[in-house]
Amino acid sequence: MKSLQSKIVLLMIGAGIILSVISCTQDPKKPGYEYMPDMYRSPSYETNSPNPLFADSMTSRKPVAGTVSRGHDFPFAYQNTIDAYEVAGKELHSPIEKSAANLGEGKRLFEIYCIHCHGSEGKGDGTMVQNGKFPPPPSYSNQLKDLPEGKMFFSITYGKNLMGSHASQLSATERWDIIQYVQTLQKLGGGSSDKATASVDSSKKAAPADTTKANKNSDKK
Ligand code: HEC
Repeated sequence: MKSLQSKIVLLMIGAGIILSVISCTQDPKKPGYEYMPDMYRSPSYETNSPNPLFADSMTSRKPVAGTVSRGHDFPFAYQNTIDAYEVAGKELHSPIEKSAANLGEGKRLFEIYCIHCHGSEGKGDGTMVQNGKFPPPPSYSNQLKDLPEGKMFFSITYGKNLMGSHASQLSATERWDIIQYVQTLQKLGGGSSDKATASVDSSKKAAPADTTKANKNSDKK
C-alpha cells in the first residue's frame, strides 16, 4: 500500500515537471500554455482601438449627456461669453485653502502645463516663445498683475484666443492650485511689456467668439 502511494506521488511530481517544461515556448512574445487565459487577459477593447459594436467604431465613449461621473467636476456654471467672464471675475473665488501644499502642487503643475509658454516667472518668455514658436503671452506681473482669480479660472477652463482650454487635462482643484501659484508670480513685479504682443486689451474684445472656435474641448469642461 505504501509503495502504491509513493508511486502516485512520484508520478505526479514527474507529470508536474513534464508539464512545466512543455508549457513554455521559445517565442518570448507568447506566454505558452495557460490555464484559463481569459482570467489573465480580459477580452476588452483598447481605448483607441476600432470597435465593431458602435456605429462610429469608437471605443472611447463620451459620458451620457447630462450626467456627471462619480468623482468628477460638476459642469462649469458660467457660459463661454464675455459677460460671464466679467461676472466670474467678480464673484468666482477659489474654494481651496491657501496652503504651502496647494501652492507646491500648483507650482508642480504649472511647470508641466504652463511654463513652456508663460515662462518660469510668468513673464511670457517660456521656451516656446524663446524658440520663436509662439508669440509671447502677457506677463502675469505686468499686464495681468490685477487679473482676478475668477477670470483666471474662466480662461484656463475655456481657453482664451491662442491659449487652449486646459479643462480636460486639469481637474478644477488642480486649476485652483495653479492659480494660487500664478498669484505669487503676479506679485513679482516688472515683466516685459514690450515683448508681450498678445496683449490682454486687444484680445479681450475678441475673446468669446475666438475661444469658442479655438476651444475644441469646451464640451469636456
Ligand atoms: C500654448 C501656450 C500657452 C499655454 C500652454 C498656456 N498659456 Fe496661458 N496664455 C497664453 C496666451 C497667448 C495668453 C494670452 C491670451 C489673450 O489674452 O489673448 C494666455 C493667457 C493666460 C492668462 C490670462 C487670461 C485672461 O483672462 O486674460 C492666464 C491666467 C493664463 N494664461 C494662465 C495659464 C495657465 C495657468 C496655464 C497652464 C495651465 C497656461 N496659461 C498655459 C498662452 C498659453
